[in-house]
Amino acid sequence: MGRKLVAYYSATDNTAKLAEWLADSLGADIFGIEPANPYPSPNDSETDCQKVSHPEIRCRRDNMCEYSLIFLGFPIWQCSIPTIIHSFLESYDMRDKTIIPFAVNEQECPICQTSMFKDLACPGAALLPGHIFSPDVQFQDIAIWGQCMNVQAEKITSDTI
Ligand SMILES: Cc1cc2nc3c(=O)[nH]c(=O)nc-3n(C[C@H](O)[C@H](O)[C@H](O)COP(=O)(O)O)c2cc1C
Repeated sequence: MGRKLVAYYSATDNTAKLAEWLADSLGADIFGIEPANPYPSPNDSETDCQKVSHPEIRCRRDNMCEYSLIFLGFPIWQCSIPTIIHSFLESYDMRDKTIIPFAVNEQECPICQTSMFKDLACPGAALLPGHIFSPDVQFQDIAIWGQCMNVQAEKITSDTI
């Protein structure tokens, strides 16, 4: 299996904290996805944030081809995926990679479902089931989840060789 990357978008650092824990526990590299034009700003309503379709990303990760496994983290916005995550996936060739999404919400929301992860368009990649964490999750919880998903990803790789 190739290298592992934890890529994330975070507006208020909750996802950033989990992404750092995950990368530390897995020995993975980490990449913060940043919008070219900052959003949301204090004046943006929640609805406005999701109206920005395909926001431009500030910085490209040049060595994306070296990673075979990408954990992809983001906050839940309007019970859905922030549009910048779609921009990220469109920016690279994700074929033959394994992508494992994780999201952070505000509190237990009955409407936010892991089925939203199916909306992640990553042609040619294996999209594994994701998980929604609350912002007060502990290091141990995310580390255990990361290890379990890593084992699943390795199994997929060995089955396809
Ligand atoms: C534009 C916007 C929409 C949001 N929509 C939801 C939502 O539908 N459900 C929810 O539980 N939290 C929602 N939140 C709260 C964030 O998901 C939550 O605060 C998250 O932990 C923030 O992660 P971050 O610090 O990495 O940005 C929303 C926040 C923003 C800014």
